[in-house]
Amino acid sequence: MSETDAVGVSPEYDRVDVSVLVIGAGAAGARAAIELAERDVDDVLVIGKRSHGDAHTTWARGGINGALGTHDPDDSWEIHAADTLNEGHFLNDPGKVETVAKQMPDRVRELDDWGMDFSRTEDGKIDQRFFGAQSFRRTAFAGDHTGESMLNALVDRAQELEIPYRENVMITKLLSDGVSVYGAVGFDMDTGEFVLFNAGTVVLAAGGHAAIYNRHTSRDDENNGDGPALAYDAGASLMDMEFIQFHPTGMAVDESDPEWAPWSGRLVTEAVRGEGGHLYNSEVPESADSGARETTSPGGERFMERYSPDQMELDARDVVARAIAQEIAEGRGTENDGVYLDLSHKSSEFIQERLPRMYERFMDLGVDMASEPVEVAPTAHYGMGGVAVDEYGETDVNGLFAIGETMAGVHGANRLGGNSLAETVAFGVVAGERIAERVDGPGEVPTRIVEEIAEPQFAGLTSLAGRDGEYDVTSVYTELQNLMWEHAGILRDGESLQAGLDELADLREKATDLDVGPVTSESFEFALDVGFMLTAAEAVLRGALERTESRGAHFRTDYPETDPEWQRNVYFQKADIGGMTSFTEPVDTPSEAVQDALDEGHELDYHQLE
Ligand code: FUM
Repeated sequence: MSETDAVGVSPEYDRVDVSVLVIGAGAAGARAAIELAERDVDDVLVIGKRSHGDAHTTWARGGINGALGTHDPDDSWEIHAADTLNEGHFLNDPGKVETVAKQMPDRVRELDDWGMDFSRTEDGKIDQRFFGAQSFRRTAFAGDHTGESMLNALVDRAQELEIPYRENVMITKLLSDGVSVYGAVGFDMDTGEFVLFNAGTVVLAAGGHAAIYNRHTSRDDENNGDGPALAYDAGASLMDMEFIQFHPTGMAVDESDPEWAPWSGRLVTEAVRGEGGHLYNSEVPESADSGARETTSPGGERFMERYSPDQMELDARDVVARAIAQEIAEGRGTENDGVYLDLSHKSSEFIQERLPRMYERFMDLGVDMASEPVEVAPTAHYGMGGVAVDEYGETDVNGLFAIGETMAGVHGANRLGGNSLAETVAFGVVAGERIAERVDGPGEVPTRIVEEIAEPQFAGLTSLAGRDGEYDVTSVYTELQNLMWEHAGILRDGESLQAGLDELADLREKATDLDVGPVTSESFEFALDVGFMLTAAEAVLRGALERTESRGAHFRTDYPETDPEWQRNVYFQKADIGGMTSFTEPVDTPSEAVQDALDEGHELDYHQLE
């Protein structure tokens, strides 16, 4: 890697030449870089918006899927793939699903070798727990801090391999002519210095877009759509953007209480239900035999009995989230607009061992999970859609790869819990292998691209810094998040989606007149985020309007049925004249091996847990 000052251009910027630029330093980016290093590609630079080891991966809690068969030897990669397709409502790309399911046993063992502190059975095997809608106990875990432990292991491995990492850099634009990528531009968030990265291959591993919603499990400064928006702007297609996963159990809190308010929407891991947690509404039954399986603790009805008597609390996330939303909407919710999640039938020792972080968090807030329930309600958690890629993670733009939550295709209409961490490492490996076969130095960014894209971008950033506009950045940011919750939430309809698009157009106007601080300020970062969020939000709203059916996480009250004609993916591209154009394509069919597993009809029976 060479670094030179580019002199004689205004504004000034540094130039960095590197063969492979990895944008994003979470699990997907780290694993791709490790694969490259292990294949002797050493001219790689990983950049992150935060310091090393601080990425959104650390917020992933409950586990990572892989058919190890620790408790259930009948499990197999084929059944893992079949479960993933089933719960994705057959909108997933079967090839990508196979890639993940086949690799995962090895990927999990490899993480174990690299020091990830997996929870273990008494005889020392990697333990596996139940997670929703999976036929077997397939989710390996490190207590309830799986993502943190996984990222630590990956960062240690990357440091062992001496992979260069540059922290606190925000990428604002990719250098692309729509056919090939030549690098990226951005700025150092500490010094404000502009940087042009000249790179023949770019891997976008920058997360997803769930934070475009006001109730979400992400941090506000992460997952606001920069990955998908950067790729779209560079000429790649977006796919399946209408499918947003609403996790059934985010914290439901008293928002007027300053101690609780920051926790609103934060994840209460599915592992609480995977370890036997029960959901109750607030309705005290008239008699003990009111139809509910269990009615004593904490006083309400165990309502999943009515929605999903076999899979109960461990049905797919979309089913449980809609059930909770319906209970609340019909007046059977709690004081803080949630329902109860109860694990008090388990011992304190058990909870502290299996769910230590959850236990501590609620204890700090004065709630002992071993003796009382917690309040939960659905919260935006994950974008199933993202950038359209081929089987190696490469987009329509040569040399531009998208992996992890930035890419689309693995999860279809609804993601299985535990498959997001799985996808990060599986596609990190696949993309790394592919790039290593082809990589041929940094190349040279054409002068035309520097003059027509990079330099105008730096000029734009310069004029944004310190702009004294009419609108406060945080207010516009929040307005956008509220708009998405209201118009493209758990339940949608055509009229409301169209109204959402109209309101988004007004917000786009406001976003051109923001009150912004200097380059190193938070408001500067958030102003750029608003731009990315607008792209992601528009694609979600347009996709949801276009898809006139209900499927998985996308529920249209005006089209409540699944329409077999809609077994198609919706794509968006940037039109030459500006604006989004869309097209649809049918989904591929699964391989014979996976079809056989589907035909066998495996399914979780929740009552195995009881
Ligand atoms: O609930 C959870 O722990 C989330 C896991 C996931 O989304 O994969």
